Amino acid sequence: MKLNIVIFLAILIGLMGYAQDLPTDYLPSDFHKDRREKVRALMPENSVTVLFANAERNRANDVDYIYHQDPDFYYLTGYKEPNSVLVLYSDDQIDENGNTYNEQIFVQKRDARSEQWNGKRLGVEGVKDKLGFKMAFNAEEFVSAPIDFKSFDTLLFYNFENDYRDGSENADLYDLIKAFKKKAYYPENYDERKQQLYTTIKATEVENSANVAQTLGRYLNRYEDLQKDPLLSGYMNAKDDNLRKEFKDKISLELQTSNLNSFMLGEIMSSLRETKTKDELRLLKKAIEISAVGQIEMMKAMHPNMSESEIQGVHEYVYKKYGAEYEGYPSIVGGGNNGCILHYIENTKTTVGNDLVLMDLGAEYHGYTADVTRTIPANGTFTPEQKAIYNIVYEAQEAGIEASRVGAPFQAPGRAASEVVAAGLIKLGIISEISQARTYFPHGTSHYLGLDVHDKGTFGPFKPNTIITVEPGIYIPEGSDCDKKWWGIAVRIEDDILITDEGPVNLSAMAPRTIASIEAMMLKSSPLDAFKLPKLD
Ligand code: GLY
Ligand code: MN
Ligand code: MN
Repeated sequence: MKLNIVIFLAILIGLMGYAQDLPTDYLPSDFHKDRREKVRALMPENSVTVLFANAERNRANDVDYIYHQDPDFYYLTGYKEPNSVLVLYSDDQIDENGNTYNEQIFVQKRDARSEQWNGKRLGVEGVKDKLGFKMAFNAEEFVSAPIDFKSFDTLLFYNFENDYRDGSENADLYDLIKAFKKKAYYPENYDERKQQLYTTIKATEVENSANVAQTLGRYLNRYEDLQKDPLLSGYMNAKDDNLRKEFKDKISLELQTSNLNSFMLGEIMSSLRETKTKDELRLLKKAIEISAVGQIEMMKAMHPNMSESEIQGVHEYVYKKYGAEYEGYPSIVGGGNNGCILHYIENTKTTVGNDLVLMDLGAEYHGYTADVTRTIPANGTFTPEQKAIYNIVYEAQEAGIEASRVGAPFQAPGRAASEVVAAGLIKLGIISEISQARTYFPHGTSHYLGLDVHDKGTFGPFKPNTIITVEPGIYIPEGSDCDKKWWGIAVRIEDDILITDEGPVNLSAMAPRTIASIEAMMLKSSPLDAFKLPKLD
């Protein structure tokens, strides 16, 4: 009996140890299930959505890039493997055994040999057990499944970017897409732009054609091949509503032969992903805090003979230490003039010297990414010129954050920040007119943040539980048309702002942002001060 208890305890402790070895704070399967319900609720009647996993991409020879799931696919399933497809139905379907279902997932088959080389697969049973799907199948069953996509009024999918390859697997993404195209009668000359314009025209009363005219005009101006489409140009150039109606009827007739819709899914996903649930906020806050700690540790560790890649490594080490799987985008570390390249990812400068160092990095934690930028003087003290530019960017950011309020237009933070930047640059004599400010501040101030660093959203008025960045910057490259003393100064300050009914909340505030707090943090010692590596020949 005693022995039994000992064995029991040993097993229990072993299991606890095993459980503690893995993160336990992933999104729960209920989150993904709820999101699928939300998609279904937004789908039109008698429609079906088909969503494919991301493609595996080759780096060189027999080495692929690290696989990353398509964010929409992850959002709706929690499944992180390639070669799979999700099918959602707006209305209940009945299988040959009389079972009702409104979704199916087709996933990679378990395969001992492949798993020995490339890691464990969830397989059908794992997807049922861990992700809560009732209707899960091996991917090859999608290839043979008799799904009659033609019987639905609308077939929602994303158009194909042609960057997937036919691998050796039986039912890889290539085979799945091929099977889909056949089942869906997807024409090889499918034109998403034309389909979208036709659909919009069909849905618009001719009396309201002015609503379509702007978009249509933009497309026809930009794409010569669309100008040649007789129905589109006929509609666009119609002299009166009667003639316009004739073209609209012809367009509607043309659309009757196709139920393909490769743009509505994007609209649905954008509307859902813009605002975050409690579970998402939990992971985003974690990713952002991890990234803020990276900035703090780097402020403490910084010294002039560090290299850009070493600085990158310190941030990324902090991310890994907290269990963040990836960076949400390639890390940007630009010393001096390099900071003027907005997405500078080479990070090859060997010593940052006495310049400002622009550090734009974000940890990705369980799929959700931060995006935080700090710009600090490598030697710990801002020069008067650096201070002058930094303070304009800081004030611009303050104005942008203050404007990030529920109901405000998406452009509000950008407008507020731009005004401050322009006024500041004029005051310093760097520019003479507001319109010249774009030379030194050539990007927007905000984007949504979530599973993608530039996350999906509607770009409508701000809603509560949205996270955006506010990231003004001033970049004055060598040779600019201003006093030499400003050359090589590049400053961006970027924080991740949660929009709430009570006002904006800066989730990355932990990382010092004012000149005084940055200089004070840089005075602190770092454990990395003692980290010495042997000199190599
Ligand atoms: N790190 C990319 C961006 O700031 O948008
Ligand atoms: Mn950003
Ligand atoms: Mn950034």
